[in-house]
Amino acid sequence: ERLFTPVKNLQGLHFTITAGPTREAIDPVRYISNHSSGKMGYALAAAAAKAGARVTLISGPVQLPTPAGVDRIDVLSAEQMLQAALAAAVTADIFIGCAAVADYRVAEIATDKLKKGSENELQLKLVKNPDIIATVAALQQQRPFTVGFAAETRNVLDYARQKLLNKRLDMICANDVSGSQIGFNSEQNAVSVIWRGGELDLPVQAKQQLAEQLIALISQHYQA
Ligand code: CTP
Ligand code: CA
Repeated sequence: ERLFTPVKNLQGLHFTITAGPTREAIDPVRYISNHSSGKMGYALAAAAAKAGARVTLISGPVQLPTPAGVDRIDVLSAEQMLQAALAAAVTADIFIGCAAVADYRVAEIATDKLKKGSENELQLKLVKNPDIIATVAALQQQRPFTVGFAAETRNVLDYARQKLLNKRLDMICANDVSGSQIGFNSEQNAVSVIWRGGELDLPVQAKQQLAEQLIALISQHYQA
């Protein structure tokens, strides 16, 4: 399998991309989140827009400028991200789930700031968030070509292959985040791209360069 770079002209295609962390409120001043920087998703959005595609970027809270030519929708929680994703998916040809969605949210968000009690322990009840990419991939009408990411610290390829099948995705980018040099919150990344019938390793490189290769590869498979 060869990569045809530079990316073909993607005019006429609509990409919807989720990026960054989600933020799940505990009370008015506290939340649960993760270390996702959003850089990979933003790099993908920039690459797709540069190639001429229409791009909707659904972004969790990150400190990044909106890439040129990209239509950005800001959200906080996974539930908000799901609503924005479903609204955009209707017209999307390709959906890329790059966000690090919080798997759980607090069952009941306190309306007032929680006060420190006399107890030495505090239990928060968490409930599972909706799986955004699986929901998009399960759409009966206007289902976009759906690409996920799998951030893993062990059994990277096995877990990613399981996610490809369980979430009914078209492709998945397996991301080994066990080291600190690549992936989460870093400038560089490397992924193994997996689809039904093939795999391709894209070596460690700057996220923007990797994003251009990924957009080329995803578009080839979409158009095939
Ligand atoms: N994802 C999603 N909605 C969720 C959780 C994950 O859309 N509630 C998407 C991510 O954006 C990514 C893919 O699913 O594209 C895989 O995310 P990951 O966290 O690796 O998988 P999980 O299914 O949450 O499994 P786990 O965290 O237990 O490995
Ligand atoms: Ca998860």
